[in-house]
Amino acid sequence: MKIGFIGYGNMAEALASKWVEKHSLFIGGRNKEKAESLAKKLGESVGFGSEKEAATFGEVVVLATTHEAVFDAMEAAGGSDVLAGKVLLDINNPVELSDFLAKSYDGISLSEAIAKAIPNARVVKAFNMCQAKVWQMNPPKFDDRPLVVMYCGDDAQAKQQVAVLIEDVGCEAKDIGDLKYSRMLEPAAAIVIKLLFSGHSAYTVLNLIQPEVKAI
Ligand SMILES: NC(=O)c1ccc[n+]([C@@H]2O[C@H](COP(=O)([O-])OP(=O)(O)OC[C@H]3O[C@@H](n4cnc5c(N)ncnc54)[C@H](OP(=O)(O)O)[C@@H]3O)[C@@H](O)[C@H]2O)c1
Repeated sequence: MKIGFIGYGNMAEALASKWVEKHSLFIGGRNKEKAESLAKKLGESVGFGSEKEAATFGEVVVLATTHEAVFDAMEAAGGSDVLAGKVLLDINNPVELSDFLAKSYDGISLSEAIAKAIPNARVVKAFNMCQAKVWQMNPPKFDDRPLVVMYCGDDAQAKQQVAVLIEDVGCEAKDIGDLKYSRMLEPAAAIVIKLLFSGHSAYTVLNLIQPEVKAI
């Protein structure tokens, strides 16, 4: 797949390093030197440039800026003119670190607000539930079990592509339904972030049941 990244931070680096062997990558952002630096770190074949160049390149476009910058970054990428028809992979957690509450966009999630802003894009939410360090694990396994990655979206083909990308990170892909279920993924990540910031292990909190124990 051709994957364009808008943003070159921790998440872009973690995911791109897992995809670079199998896919064609382009790192884009507002600072070309920073985009170049990550591209060079990933390998010779990786392109770099502006948000717009990354968006134009990718059949999948990863929105990997801070959550506050997503709409401006999509605008800089060319807005609907460039992003229509693309798979927009939303990895963001719109979580305010002052109170660890997930932000609401007039009653909808960030993913849905992105879909509203770019009506013809095919938005898929994924990779928001774990920190970048987890995506760097090779493979991400806990108690010898592969990490299950929940994803959601309204376009079946786009979701299939993201499922492949989840498997390429070494995880098991779990479709949780339409994009409206991002309304649950975003606050779910917020509570994980709250735990992590207060020094608690989200790992033990979320492992609610051992595999040999049958759920009632
Ligand atoms: N880190 C994690 O563990 C983790 C886990 C799951 C989800 N996420 C989500 O993934 C997203 C990226 O997180 P990250 O940790 O990769 O962030 P990061 O390392 O802080 O990188 C942020 C990126 O956003 C860019 N950016 C910031 N403000 C911008 C603006 N106004 N316009 C354009 N670009 C701007 C930065 O570019 P400059 O360097 O030029 O400012 C940088 O490329 C966030 O929404 C976060 O909630 C993070």
